[in-house]
Amino acid sequence: MKLFLDTGKVEEVRRAVEWGIVDGVTTNPSLIAQAGRGFKETVLEICSLVPHGTVSAEVVGTSVDEILREAREIASWAPNIVVKIPMTPAGVAATRQLTREGIRVNMTLVFSPTQALLAAKAGATYISVFVGRVDDVSSEGMRTIEDAVRMVQNYGFTSEVLVASIRHPMHVVEAMRLGAHIATMPFKVMEQLFQHPLTDIGLQRFLDDWHKAGLKIFE
Ligand code: G3P
Repeated sequence: MKLFLDTGKVEEVRRAVEWGIVDGVTTNPSLIAQAGRGFKETVLEICSLVPHGTVSAEVVGTSVDEILREAREIASWAPNIVVKIPMTPAGVAATRQLTREGIRVNMTLVFSPTQALLAAKAGATYISVFVGRVDDVSSEGMRTIEDAVRMVQNYGFTSEVLVASIRHPMHVVEAMRLGAHIATMPFKVMEQLFQHPLTDIGLQRFLDDWHKAGLKIFE
């Protein structure tokens, strides 16, 4: 499963990339606005930090023409950009056209299995299914992941199911169990993936025993 960082903060990307396990970055208009810098400069800096991964950057137009215009512009900034387009009839029509032109699309704001099917049929590279926002309203976000993964497998679509709106490490575990292709998460959740109290206790014990015995690696 690929691990993406969901952020508009360049510094978070820089720190996470040092771990060597980041396969890409996703942004959205809210995350870019929170980060407080210009859209293009932010996206370009993130692209340079993950040259072998993809960076999803979102359009804000809502008509087919606006989406196409913005998507072509954003895609021209760097070869590793995937254009994020919301799941609307206009978004699906634009996605169909852009994929014919060779521009990769991350279809976002997908909440239901039928929306996932339409995104796959339009040729989306990634289908971003939001889980946390569904859990927030007392429903099961992971149900759509299960359906979307099965749909892609049943019909041999090339789209990858991207688990978005992740809130905690158990969302990542569930994504893994269901065979999702990608999980995108905030920096804090990625940091939490490393943590286990028994690792800390175990490491401390190894070091204490080693030092007490006066051992050395370099003699
Ligand atoms: O980028 C899409 C998604 O990951 C947003 O998550 O936490 O705003 O629901 P959230």
